[in-house]
Amino acid sequence: MNVRNRVAVIHGVNLDMLGRRPAAVYGGITYDQLEQRIGAFAGELDLEPRFFQTNHEGELVEHLHRVEGLADGIVINPGAWTHYAWAIRDALEIAGLPAVEVHLSDVNAREQWRRVSVVRDLCVATVSGEGVEGYREALARLKQEIA
Ligand code: DQA
Repeated sequence: MNVRNRVAVIHGVNLDMLGRRPAAVYGGITYDQLEQRIGAFAGELDLEPRFFQTNHEGELVEHLHRVEGLADGIVINPGAWTHYAWAIRDALEIAGLPAVEVHLSDVNAREQWRRVSVVRDLCVATVSGEGVEGYREALARLKQEIA
């Protein structure tokens, strides 16, 4: 049987610094802890996560170019790139896989510029403002899409 359960979990700029970012906004979790929690959620859902984080836009673009054969779906939190990085949007389109956008914070309740997402319309869902738990919802939604 061909199991479709591979999920590329992609984080963009500054998310490796989570432990040094405002805890009131991002929950005070480190990036390593975030990966562990997402790994546990994925395990509960019988999904196989493959993690990637970078602070270099071109690296994220090239990761998306390669992801087609490596994953069945994508969970992506592009960080600040969400709001303006059209090259990442184009690369996500090239990847051609079902994707869910996630943000730890509620991007619609913060500065005006965070309300724009250049990837949103390429994603089957956006989860925002639910902290780490939002990744559980994102993975469950993605599973419906790829299973
Ligand atoms: C973020 C929200 C973005 O606006 C911000 O630039 C981030 C993190 C989030 O997870 O809440 O770096 O994507």
